[in-house]
Amino acid sequence: MTNIFSRRVLVTGGAGFLGSHLCAQLLATGHEVLCVDNFYTGRRANIAPLLAQPGFEVLRHDICFPLYVEVDEIYNLACPASPVHYQSDPVQTTKTSVHGSINMLGLAKRVKAKILQASTSEVYGDPLEHPQKETYWGHVNPVGPRSCYDEGKGVDAPLR
Ligand SMILES: NC(=O)c1ccc[n+]([C@@H]2O[C@H](COP(=O)([O-])OP(=O)(O)OC[C@H]3O[C@@H](n4cnc5c(N)ncnc54)[C@H](O)[C@@H]3O)[C@@H](O)[C@H]2O)c1
Repeated sequence: MTNIFSRRVLVTGGAGFLGSHLCAQLLATGHEVLCVDNFYTGRRANIAPLLAQPGFEVLRHDICFPLYVEVDEIYNLACPASPVHYQSDPVQTTKTSVHGSINMLGLAKRVKAKILQASTSEVYGDPLEHPQKETYWGHVNPVGPRSCYDEGKGVDAPLR
């Protein structure tokens, strides 16, 4: 049978603020979407309107653990983004950015998928340069309350 969908796309953090809108947009443009989320900050309500759409699938999974699926593209958005959430479990935040991203890169390599890694301006910490150039190393406090997020995303920074 012919697949009517153009590409199969994995969106991690797909039940979150940005991810749910991305899932909706990808479906609207004719893609098949696999939304993967551990619902740490994501909400079912964010993806409820998508559940009835053909081509939409949800998997409850923590990306800190390996995932074996067949996809053409990956958007790795999974990570709590607001300070109150990412600071409430700094070890899990670090794992998500480090182990999670390594797992998604491994998956991308295995299935030869294109991958987009969500970064943040927080990789520059409290910057001394404005605006920050891509060559700027930043001014992150490595022992501060934001370090789990800043340093974790910093590990992902070479993927930008
Ligand atoms: N919103 C912003 O202004 C902003 C700015 C810069 C970067 N970002 C980045 O964009 C991405 C999405 O941000 P958002 O605002 O949608 O945040 P969000 O908290 O709304 O969404 C993150 C999603 O990831 C899920 N998640 C967290 N850890 C997970 C794990 N280990 N395994 C699977 N799912 C997990 C959460 O349940 C949630 O659904 C994040 O990577 C964030 O760092 C966001």
